Amino acid sequence: TNLVIANKVIAPDGFSRSAVLAGSSSSNVAFPGPLIRGNKGARFRINLVNQLSDTSMLKTTSIHWHGLFQAGTSWADGPAFVTQCPIASGDSFLYDFRSADQAGTFWYHAHLSTQYCDGLRGAFVVYDHIRDRLKYGYLVDNEDTVITLADWYHTVAPQAGLVPTPDATLINGRGRYAGSDVATPLAVIRVIWGIKYRFRLVSTSCDPFYDFSIDGHTMTVIEADGILTRPLQVDSIRVFAGQRYSFILHANKPINNYWIRAEPNLGARGFEGGINSAILRYIGAPRNREPTTTQTPSTNPLVEANLIPDRHPGAPGVPQVGAADVNLNLAMAFNFAQLEFTINGHPYTSPTSPVLLQIMSGASSATDLLPEGAVYVLPPNKVIELSIPALQIGQPHPFHLHGHAFDVIRSAGSTNYNFVNPPRRDVVSTGNVGDNVTIRFVTDNAGPWFLHCHIDWHLEIGLAVVFAEDVGKVSQARPPPAWDALCPKYDSLSPEEK
Ligand code: C2O
Repeated sequence: TNLVIANKVIAPDGFSRSAVLAGSSSSNVAFPGPLIRGNKGARFRINLVNQLSDTSMLKTTSIHWHGLFQAGTSWADGPAFVTQCPIASGDSFLYDFRSADQAGTFWYHAHLSTQYCDGLRGAFVVYDHIRDRLKYGYLVDNEDTVITLADWYHTVAPQAGLVPTPDATLINGRGRYAGSDVATPLAVIRVIWGIKYRFRLVSTSCDPFYDFSIDGHTMTVIEADGILTRPLQVDSIRVFAGQRYSFILHANKPINNYWIRAEPNLGARGFEGGINSAILRYIGAPRNREPTTTQTPSTNPLVEANLIPDRHPGAPGVPQVGAADVNLNLAMAFNFAQLEFTINGHPYTSPTSPVLLQIMSGASSATDLLPEGAVYVLPPNKVIELSIPALQIGQPHPFHLHGHAFDVIRSAGSTNYNFVNPPRRDVVSTGNVGDNVTIRFVTDNAGPWFLHCHIDWHLEIGLAVVFAEDVGKVSQARPPPAWDALCPKYDSLSPEEK
């Protein structure tokens, strides 16, 4: 299938702006991009067609399939200058990968500078219908039960160290901004009384986290970031940039319209005129009326440490802090003079040659690999432990690791270490000062994998490292022929063409 990337002026919250959008053809590009779906084990052949033309934004692009491990296909992972060079406008590039044994809720987004904040983001779901329905007893799980949250900006995403404030929150691509005098339509999610639904909540945020809730209803969480969990009943979910949850909603409350709320920590807060909201509508409830429901203060929010994987092998390695095969402390800092973040003293700046290409050209040690000080070489088949002490600059930093899910042996807000049945996920909040989030994973997937803050403004100014995992195997990898041509092509583009 084709995924066409093009510019178009849209007004999802009533304010018109040019955006970077995806569609199955150039005539239907939209926000969010089309839902990409497949079944467990499926092969995805997604031909990215770059038709970007707006010179006020980047015209090159690349896409990351967030949460999919890309075993054997690290070249298809997508982050610009880690696994590929950006794709020029007028060109196409075939991403060809398998979901293998993964099933769950994922998403895709541009992974070049801050481009996804200008629109290029969408949900990606891999189903395992029969197993999951039997296990959890829900009936409906389809394209209408995917809920995407997004921060939306009225100006083009800055590329150099500025942190803009979101103008609106979009739920399934619709929202309103504070101060607007038009009540633009909000997303409506329709349910039939008596049915159990599986909702898939995807934060496609560039920055804020959201406190998500549905008036009058509790939610039973069954999945976090593509990993099934033991059912966990909550009344609100704090979801950080890049995180996903599935929850079961039993539509057994009085037939009515109810507010769905996604309260951001940045931008217009509160709840005036339906800002930060969508509508849960029972069939039979008045169709032309907005809800009048009120929010009950949360008494039972989701606590990450309580997310127990459905199948829990436990954390790998010796069950003691600092006793993994490789123990790394990642110390974040902010350099006020340079306006950049560093990890262990080094800012991440994109190298001109993608890390994957460097490895294939023979670089094999941290001293050879660029960017200097920000590439860590990891040996195969070892247990890696990372501890990431919190930094009180900005807000909690949600860290995402490509190529893996990891065990969160110490969660933000907790001082306990859990080696028995720790949460497993691919984006973790590092919390507030005093927290020291600690994770483990096994190096069973060769490739150069990005680890970065998913607040896109922070990644842009250095808050990232790359793990070069099993460089021996990576150097023998075989990307498709077109892959090799990307970089010479990109290098020869004029600044306006980039
Ligand atoms: Cu959701 Cu590096 O990405």
